[in-house]
Amino acid sequence: MHELFMRRCFELARQGTGRVSPNPLVGVVIVKNGKIIGEGFHERHGGAHAEPNAFKNATEDVSGATLYTNLEPCCHTKKLTPPCAPLVIEKKIAHVVICNLDPNPLVAGSGAAQLKAAGIQVTTGVLEQEGESLNEIFFHRMRTGRPLVHLKSAATLDGKTALPNGESKWITGPEAREDGHRGRLQYDAVMVGAETLRKDDPALTVRLPGFTPERMPFRVILTGSGKLPMGAQVFKDDFRHRTLVVTDSQTKIDMLPPQQVVRLSTLNPFPFGEFYKKIADFGIHSLWLEGGAALHSLFLQHNQVGRLTLYLSPKIMGEGRALFAHTSSGLADLLQLEGLEVQAMGADLKITAKMETNRRKP
Ligand SMILES: NC(=O)c1ccc[n+]([C@@H]2O[C@H](COP(=O)([O-])OP(=O)(O)OC[C@H]3O[C@@H](n4cnc5c(N)ncnc54)[C@H](OP(=O)(O)O)[C@@H]3O)[C@@H](O)[C@H]2O)c1
Repeated sequence: MHELFMRRCFELARQGTGRVSPNPLVGVVIVKNGKIIGEGFHERHGGAHAEPNAFKNATEDVSGATLYTNLEPCCHTKKLTPPCAPLVIEKKIAHVVICNLDPNPLVAGSGAAQLKAAGIQVTTGVLEQEGESLNEIFFHRMRTGRPLVHLKSAATLDGKTALPNGESKWITGPEAREDGHRGRLQYDAVMVGAETLRKDDPALTVRLPGFTPERMPFRVILTGSGKLPMGAQVFKDDFRHRTLVVTDSQTKIDMLPPQQVVRLSTLNPFPFGEFYKKIADFGIHSLWLEGGAALHSLFLQHNQVGRLTLYLSPKIMGEGRALFAHTSSGLADLLQLEGLEVQAMGADLKITAKMETNRRKP
C-alpha cells in the first residue's frame, strides 16, 4: 500500500518538471481510512511546497491521517517559504511515510527527527531508488556541489553522428527526438559547441506536442574563435534573451549584449569550477550537452559528465563523424559506465547510464 501512494507522489512531483529548479520535485498525498483526501506538489520555484498545497486541497479533516511524500519535509528557514515539518505537526498528522531523506545539509534527517520528537510515526526509504532517479539532478548537486551534466547524443548503429561533411539532421526518428525534448525540459540549460551551431543551426528549444514550457532552458554556446553566425536561430528567435555565449576574456562577441556573454579567464585548460560558478549566476544548476564530439570529449575527459544518454538508430553510415573526439591511451583507461538501461524508442534504441564515479582522474 505504501508503494502505491508513493508512486502517486512521484506522478504529482513530475508535474513540477522544468519549473522548480534548483529545488527538488516533490509530491504529497494525504491518506485517511485508506482513501486519498488531499494531494499537492511543488509547482514552481519560490512557490508553496508540496505539503501546504496538499493541506490546502484536502477535502476532509487531516488530523490522524498518513502523509506520503517523496522527500523528507524541510525544517530550515533559510528559504523563500516557511518550513514544512512544523506544519505537519500542527495539522496533527499521525504517520509520515518518506521516500528519500533530504541530502540538503540544512535538512539531512532533522526534518524526520522533528516529526518523531513530536510523536509522529515516521517510515523512510519507501521506493528509495525510484525517488533517487526522479530527483537525480537535485541529489547530484547537493552531494557534489556541482551541476549534473547530462550528455545526450544520437548516432547510427556504427556510432556515427554526422556525414564526413558534417551533415547530421535527422539520424533518429520522431519518438527519440521527442524523448530528447523531454530530457531538455528537465535541465536549466542546453549546451553545444560552436561547430554544431555553425553546421546545424539548431533551435535547442523544448518542443513537445500540446505542451508549452513556462520557461525555456538557457542555450549555451561555447566558442574560442567568436565566429558565430549572426543569423543563427538562437540569436534571432523569441528566446534569444535566454542564449549565452561562453568564451575567454578577449574574444569579440557581437551578436549578443555583453550581459549574455560569459567570459572565462581561459578556455584551455577549461576552468570548470569558474564556468559552473558563472552560469549559476543565471540560475543554471544543471546542464544538458547536445554535441558535438569536441564538446562531449572536453567534459568526458575531465570527469564532468554524470549521465550519458545515447539514441541509436538502426542504420549504418560507414565513414562519418565519431561520437567522441578524444583518444584513450589504453584499454585500461576506457571511460566506464554503470547502471545501463536500454529501452526501445520507436525504431531506435535509447541507452542511458551513469558515468562510473571512481573512473580515472584527469
Ligand atoms: N548526431 C548528433 O547527435 C549531433 C549532435 C550535435 C552535433 N552533431 C554534429 O557534430 C558536428 C560538430 O561537432 P564538432 O566536434 O566538430 O564541434 P563542437 O563540439 O560542436 O564544437 C567545437 C567548438 O567548441 C569551441 N570550443 C571552445 N573551447 C573549446 C574546448 N576547450 N574544447 C572543445 N571545444 C571548444 C570551439 O569553437 P570555435 O571554433 O568557435 O573556437 C570548437 O571549434 C557537426 O557536424 C554536427 O552536425 C551531431
